[in-house]
Amino acid sequence: MKSLLADSSEELVLLSLQARSLDKLAEQKRSNKLLEDAIATYLNILQKNNVSDDLYLKTADRCINRMRFRGQHGQAVGVHKMLITRYPENPKYRNDLAVTYLMTGKVPLAKNILEETLKKWPSNGFALVHYGFVLKTSENNNKDGSRYMQEGIDTNEPGTMDARFLFHLGDAYNRIGQHSRAEKVYELGVKEKLFRSKYQRSLYNVDRLTARPWWTLQQTTYAKELKMFEERWKEVRDEGLSILQSHSKRSSFKDEVENLRDKGVWKQLELYARGQQITSNCKNAPVTCLLISQFPAAHSCRRGQAKFSVMHPNTHVWPHCGPTNCRLRAHLGLVVPPGTELRVGDEKRSWEEGKVFVFDDSFEHEVWHNGTSMRLVLIVDIWHPELTDHERRALPAI
Ligand code: LMR
Ligand code: MN
Repeated sequence: MKSLLADSSEELVLLSLQARSLDKLAEQKRSNKLLEDAIATYLNILQKNNVSDDLYLKTADRCINRMRFRGQHGQAVGVHKMLITRYPENPKYRNDLAVTYLMTGKVPLAKNILEETLKKWPSNGFALVHYGFVLKTSENNNKDGSRYMQEGIDTNEPGTMDARFLFHLGDAYNRIGQHSRAEKVYELGVKEKLFRSKYQRSLYNVDRLTARPWWTLQQTTYAKELKMFEERWKEVRDEGLSILQSHSKRSSFKDEVENLRDKGVWKQLELYARGQQITSNCKNAPVTCLLISQFPAAHSCRRGQAKFSVMHPNTHVWPHCGPTNCRLRAHLGLVVPPGTELRVGDEKRSWEEGKVFVFDDSFEHEVWHNGTSMRLVLIVDIWHPELTDHERRALPAI
């Protein structure tokens, strides 16, 4: 109290006490109304004259935190800008604004502010990694993206050693043919315990789960259910083919949108996503969706999908890792021409019509279609067998 009184007026002390109490009470009572009042009081403090740096910074920090919590990112931007105006010589407040922009998908705005920051502070590690990340992930600019991310990571500044940056830095290097640099990045990620191994680089993991690139049907514990797909594979194939040949716009295969393709054509039609049936698509694939609906580890898999996947000749899918180690990925070969191949970890395999294979797509995998006609498979994601029922219900969807 004494120190606060010394460098700010009595009114500020009272306002600050009021804001903190409202904030605490809002948390205890889970009351949005009280939280709104707390936020308004924080803003009130920030607008006063003669606020000490200590009080100003603590108030702004908590205010932004609570606004983000309420999803009021636009309002938070206002507070960031007040901080930048008050402390124009500290790049931290500009970087915080960039993060708020990125959190809300306002990538061009984030890019702008990062660019300005780097003009003034060219070796600011936090701005460097984030700028490189934006170039790589939003503009597919792997050359400059990798340069900036690498420079940022090399500063060792707080906030620069992050799994997402290493993930995209390695990928950017691979895409410009700098494979040994990519290897080094992945090894660093393993050393820093950000990746489970150099091949298994998923970011949403449950630690104890058995990890292997390829699984036999027996190992999955779901052999019985998977065999059902093999038994009825021709019906599944015909459903996939008939959707492929229909001209309906509403239920049609969609281009892969994650920028995983080096070249070619690769489209998918989702039947289940995040544990929810896509009913409009299942109407056109009743047998396939029936099989999935009779397979709890598949239809309840909120960290995956079930989908038809079609790939045209002359397609190459860059090496990539799925987001989570909580699922395994079963493929049922439906139309399989020669010249198609899937590498998972160190081992390449090809599909076989009417046969299922299972791999863990959190391991690096890569696909080639160098054949002369289209390839069609059914992909069914299933919960990792070692996850408990509680985990299957409680893990956030992906
Ligand atoms: C993948 O899961 O990335 C690919 O194997 C999908 C596909 O259609 O081959
Ligand atoms: Mn994949």
